[in-house]
Amino acid sequence: MELVTHSPRTHASHPPTRPTFLMCPPKFYDVNYVINPWMSDNIHAVSRERAAAQWHQLHHALSQIAEVVLVEPQPGSPDMVFTANAGLECDGIVVLSSFFHPERQAEEPHFRNWFQSAGYTVIDLPRATPFEGEGDALFAKTPTGTCLFAGYGLRTLLSSHDALSHAWNVPVISLELIDPRFYHLDTAFAPLEGGVVMYYPPAFSPAAVAAIQAAYPADKRIEVQESDALRFACNAISVGRHILLNQISRELTTRLESLGFITTQVDLSEFLKAGGAAKCLVMRLEPPQP
Ligand code: ARG
Repeated sequence: MELVTHSPRTHASHPPTRPTFLMCPPKFYDVNYVINPWMSDNIHAVSRERAAAQWHQLHHALSQIAEVVLVEPQPGSPDMVFTANAGLECDGIVVLSSFFHPERQAEEPHFRNWFQSAGYTVIDLPRATPFEGEGDALFAKTPTGTCLFAGYGLRTLLSSHDALSHAWNVPVISLELIDPRFYHLDTAFAPLEGGVVMYYPPAFSPAAVAAIQAAYPADKRIEVQESDALRFACNAISVGRHILLNQISRELTTRLESLGFITTQVDLSEFLKAGGAAKCLVMRLEPPQP
């Protein structure tokens, strides 16, 4: 496959009408270390061939509804395929991740280079305040306006949230994560089109559940069961009415369809071995402001 290294930002006069996502081919993907509970029984248990096939299926499905750009995978960074953790972008500004675990810190300069050569303004956070990008921070339109939901407690530190608020002058709703299986916000929380949220309540502290319920009225909340949460149902890519995600239950599929969503389900079992699924494999990028 040809690697696309140019940026959507180089086409300022013709901004794409479709959203853009950054992906990283799984050339070096593997489970080489354990930094979350999903990885502990899966050291070197990945089939790279199956992973490649699943990744290409996701890439193909996403390409039908969005632009996809690629960053070059790097040897020694098997988790780089999870580009959601590269950083968080909005209005041409990227707050780069400062990874909690040393195992992933080698990814930072590669992502920084890609963002800088693509024309984004990159903000670095100190090592003392870990922040794991879009994995732990999601912009959402709630019935009361746009805000940034940010997770903390397992990877990202609460003290990094101030920098996020300053970067975009946006209110941040901080949500504490308490279940190590759901160590990033995007494993348990998915803002969807139409001011809807799909989430797994037990992943959050009681105060965080209260904050989610304060932001979204009951008829806009989809609470998923543990069995679907463990299939990474909340790790969903949302593009308008389209939702791309791992395979989920018939029951949840029907629920989403009854609300007008169109689901595309891709078997991502090889990536679950590292604790990731659809949403972890992409990072949303905005086209540049003219
Ligand atoms: N093995 C990776 C880690 O533990 C998986 C990252 C999943 N990414 C995400 N956005 N949830 O860091």
